[in-house]
Amino acid sequence: MEKLRINGGHPLKGELAISGSKNAALPIMAACLLCPNEIMIDNVPNLRDIKTMGTLLSHMGATIEKVSENTLKINTKNIRQKFAPYELVKTMRASIVVLGPLLARFGEAAVSLPGGCSIGARPVNLHIEGLSAMGAKIEIKNGYIHASAKELKGCEFEFNPVSVTGTANLMMAACLAKGQTILNNSAKEPEIVNLGEFLITIGAKISGLGTERIIIEGVKSLKSEHFKVIPDRIEATTFLIASLITKSNLKINNLIPGHLKEPIDLLRRSGAIIKVSRQSIDIAPPKKIKPVSFKTEPYPGIPTDIQAQLMVLNILADGHSTIHETIFENRFMHVLELQRMGADISLNRNIALVQGIKALKSAPVMATDLRASAALVLAALAAEGETIVDRIYHIDRGYENIDKKLSSLGAMVERIES
Ligand code: EPZ
Repeated sequence: MEKLRINGGHPLKGELAISGSKNAALPIMAACLLCPNEIMIDNVPNLRDIKTMGTLLSHMGATIEKVSENTLKINTKNIRQKFAPYELVKTMRASIVVLGPLLARFGEAAVSLPGGCSIGARPVNLHIEGLSAMGAKIEIKNGYIHASAKELKGCEFEFNPVSVTGTANLMMAACLAKGQTILNNSAKEPEIVNLGEFLITIGAKISGLGTERIIIEGVKSLKSEHFKVIPDRIEATTFLIASLITKSNLKINNLIPGHLKEPIDLLRRSGAIIKVSRQSIDIAPPKKIKPVSFKTEPYPGIPTDIQAQLMVLNILADGHSTIHETIFENRFMHVLELQRMGADISLNRNIALVQGIKALKSAPVMATDLRASAALVLAALAAEGETIVDRIYHIDRGYENIDKKLSSLGAMVERIES
């Protein structure tokens, strides 16, 4: 099992480019199941989860060609089996987004229930209720979702709560359904907008992207096209926070500032000096980091996927703050590891009370989930001395070449075998 050895306490410098968005690329890859032609997708990040989605699609009979480091050519002409096995789904919950496209194109699918996850129960009831409302017959048997439908029909469906992959699944299924589908309280995340833009590019009829009401008019078929994935706003925010906690001036390129409005406002409230350009951000740290309380919310609010990283910022702030995690019921796994590095945090159900400290102390720590591992890497960059972050396969799921990117900024980071 690989670890990261990080020698922290040094400022970083320079600039780096953000990779494509994992949470846009995954549903877009699944959406290729909707059309039996070759599709080219650019700016796909080189991540474990992307490889897993590629393995899943190939397992069904798709051909996936890596045209270049970040370009995939996908052809789902010869899908032989509409089946997503537990062995693959358990390693990546996002596999659930093959359910809607398989059902829409083939009228049948057997997808493993994703099962447990360290950050919460993460049910998929809304995916199932929505597809049933479109006329699918769905049975849960031996841990699998067995779905079939002669023909999906448009429907009006309300999400409660907002669900990102739930919106993705239903939007994809509705593209080939008969008639109009209205999705209310749908996800407004940029990744869902990007998926919708991809679907429109291949011939779908969708309006309302980025609002809580998405309308899809079913069409008969979809066509092959070339598409580019948006940059990853979560990776971008992670590196912005890295600048502040290592007291470094950085330039982060290849991002869409419009996707980061709330995080930028929050970082400015913490004292960050931020200059926003068309596709990049220059950031400089304040003398003292001001604590900033926040709660996580669906887009355009503060994303739950940067909660752990922002906690590290508050740990090093001059004062106390509260962090309210409203999306997932168990997304404070990073707290225990951060406390081992000297953080002063107390938990009260889904609220964390953070008392700022002067400095974190290096210590051996263990990653528990993707975003928690990013927080531990940030903490290690800020802490004087050597920190070993174990189980970094978690971080490789969502951050492309994180050790190489950090080293390019002058960080002392080394990937080691345990
Ligand atoms: C997506 O997960 C992201 N994953 C997550 O990113 C992200 O944290 C999450 O959205 C919230 O923004 C991908 O896009 C691949 P949800 P998803 O359905 O779609 C409840 C990362 O680190 N819910 O929006 O699974 C659920 O329990 C990952 O990249 C139901 O009750 O999240 C949660 O409380 C982690 N029933 C809330 O909705 C359902 O059927 C939001 O979940 C579905 C969800």
